[in-house]
Amino acid sequence: MSVVVLISGRGSNMQALLDAGLPVAAVIGNTADAAALEIAARRGIGASVVEHKDYGTREEFDAALAAEIDRHSPRLVALAGFMRILTPGFVAHYAGRLVNIHPSLLPAFPGLDTHRRALAAGVKVHGCSVHFVSEQLDHGPIIVQAAVSVRPGDTPDLLAARVLRQEHVVYPRAVGWFLDGKLVVRNGVVSVKGNDAQLVYSDRD
Ligand code: GAR
Repeated sequence: MSVVVLISGRGSNMQALLDAGLPVAAVIGNTADAAALEIAARRGIGASVVEHKDYGTREEFDAALAAEIDRHSPRLVALAGFMRILTPGFVAHYAGRLVNIHPSLLPAFPGLDTHRRALAAGVKVHGCSVHFVSEQLDHGPIIVQAAVSVRPGDTPDLLAARVLRQEHVVYPRAVGWFLDGKLVVRNGVVSVKGNDAQLVYSDRD
């Protein structure tokens, strides 16, 4: 029933998963200085590191990472601010049980620096997406999205903070749906048994 969470940095989405009481078996980072590792350890969650710098190729790193993950036999692997590009072999190994949260309304703005790019594009609505991971970066069947208004005077930081609050709402919800066996993927489109809302729109904070 458990979840392994992969992180690279701050770990606020990891904390949201823990706060929701989801069964997180372990947290794994790709760099020893990730703040999330200490937070996880303080909360009694096994935290370990597979340093990407120690491996010559992406394939070697991904093989070591998969070996560390598979020690826990997780039902789900959740990327939570994990900032490494994954190899096709890794993605295939976890097909159907690898999810990611991305700070944009995919398929708009994959990649980095999403909030600045959204402001530069002049979009009036922005947000985040939880999706199954496919070989293509920040791509794959979308489980849930949260949308926020873009306001006059927004900066990338203001917008990022508004989106992040929604990330913490929708990521635990998506992981819960997965563990409850509620997600159905047909032709690349995800539905939720029982019709739970797959769109959150927040105009308040
Ligand atoms: C989050 O905003 C997450 O959506 C983003 O990194 C941040 C990690 O914050 N992920 C990506 O950009 C993946 N493409 P956190 O460490 O506090 O959860």
